[in-house]
Amino acid sequence: MSVTAIVGAQWGDEGKGRIIDFLAQQADVVIRFQGGDNAGHTVINQYGKRALHLVPSGIFNPVTQNIIGAGCVVNPASLLEEMARLEAAGVTLGNLWISNRAQMVMPYHRMLDALEEAARGKDSIGTTKRGIGPAYADKAARSGLRMGDLLHPHWLEARLNDALRTANRKLQLLGGRPVDERELNALLMDYRQKLRDRIVDVMPLLRQALNADADILLEGQLGVMRDLDWGIYPYVTSSNPTAAFAPIGAGLPARSLDRVIGVVKAYSTAVGEGPFPTELLDETGDRLREAGAEFGATTGRPRRCGWFDGVAVRYAAWLNGMTGLAVTKLDVLDAFDELQICVGYRLPSGELVTDAMPDTPLLYGVTPVYETWPGWRSDTTRARSWDDLPRAARAYLHRISELADVPIAYVSVGPEREQMFDVS
Ligand code: GDP
Ligand code: IMO
Ligand code: MG
Repeated sequence: MSVTAIVGAQWGDEGKGRIIDFLAQQADVVIRFQGGDNAGHTVINQYGKRALHLVPSGIFNPVTQNIIGAGCVVNPASLLEEMARLEAAGVTLGNLWISNRAQMVMPYHRMLDALEEAARGKDSIGTTKRGIGPAYADKAARSGLRMGDLLHPHWLEARLNDALRTANRKLQLLGGRPVDERELNALLMDYRQKLRDRIVDVMPLLRQALNADADILLEGQLGVMRDLDWGIYPYVTSSNPTAAFAPIGAGLPARSLDRVIGVVKAYSTAVGEGPFPTELLDETGDRLREAGAEFGATTGRPRRCGWFDGVAVRYAAWLNGMTGLAVTKLDVLDAFDELQICVGYRLPSGELVTDAMPDTPLLYGVTPVYETWPGWRSDTTRARSWDDLPRAARAYLHRISELADVPIAYVSVGPEREQMFDVS
């Protein structure tokens, strides 16, 4: 029984959803600790292929309590749509809860995200345009509305009035249409009606779970390279997907964390702008994209693809205090004759960097230093244990683990629930 954070160790889309779906079969509680509906966590199980955005990836186990934590930003409209899709697929949602302290993504946050991106022109961040940045900005500016405000209509009305004074000025400044307060208030009353029974103070539940030594999973939404503080700023999301934030975003004491599982793809992908040193803008990149079906689960954008970046993962491993790695998509490399692993960055000065992450302006100028590893040229999708893997695949994984300085805990060889195994 333990508290485990599951975090992305690269640029996002590492396969966090499928790992959590697998682990949640044994978990009592799963809590999303940051982010919003910018997430696209794809899970394939007895309910078919499901893309989760706000709902935690433990939802398919009816006895697991699933919580959208205080560190999240929740767009009630998209949550309700997602809930309807899940219910239509036969998933019961009696185990879904929303922290009363989670922030609310308002329609004007989405409008502002799009207008701000347009205003940035060629310097855009490539956001998902889900209003995530503006919602977290309002949280920090203390003009955000929280999900719990829906339970207190008079308070909500006053908060909305206050928030709209600034939001409407910003919208007008950027050429957008101001929002009508009465209309929005009516919309919020509709959300209140539909969601009020799920909005709770999660602390009693978590306290009880921790005291009972329950199995608790803390679900991160993105990769460390998009962390607000430690990622490739400004090409980052507006919260911290790193493990240190997990207890805050969930509502647990910092010292409750027992394990940190870093999810890594056997290669690298990124969606959105910013430096991505191992990116392959050639046929090999296209081959990875095709073999790995690398298209965004939220926006459908083709993902940028490249070789495994040992510097980024080493950095992520240290920063997150990882206790184990979950390596996904090993099977995508099955047909390659040779593979490359980036083991260092060469700065323009000639200096070799292996143990740090150069800041964004420097990162644009680095040249990756590669090692070449032999491919295994055989099907790994039916492997269900370490010993089932071809020798070259084990050697490749060993090298990843060595660079990260973290043991491998899980290997995934396909998107379906059973195409994964525990190595420890
Ligand atoms: P997340 O955002 O970190 O949850 O990752 P995504 O769901 O956005 O992206 C991972 C994609 O890879 C999804 O389409 C998964 O179904 C798929 N996937 C996950 N693990 C594996 C694997 O081991 N092999 C293959 N071929 N696909 C996988
Ligand atoms: P999952 O949960 C990949 C990227 C965007 C952009 C930056 C900021 O599936 O890993 P935001 O909309 O958060 O303000 O965008 O972060 N980004 C993601 N990239 N997967 C995601 O989610 C992402 N969520 C945001 O492309 O570069
Ligand atoms: Mg994703």
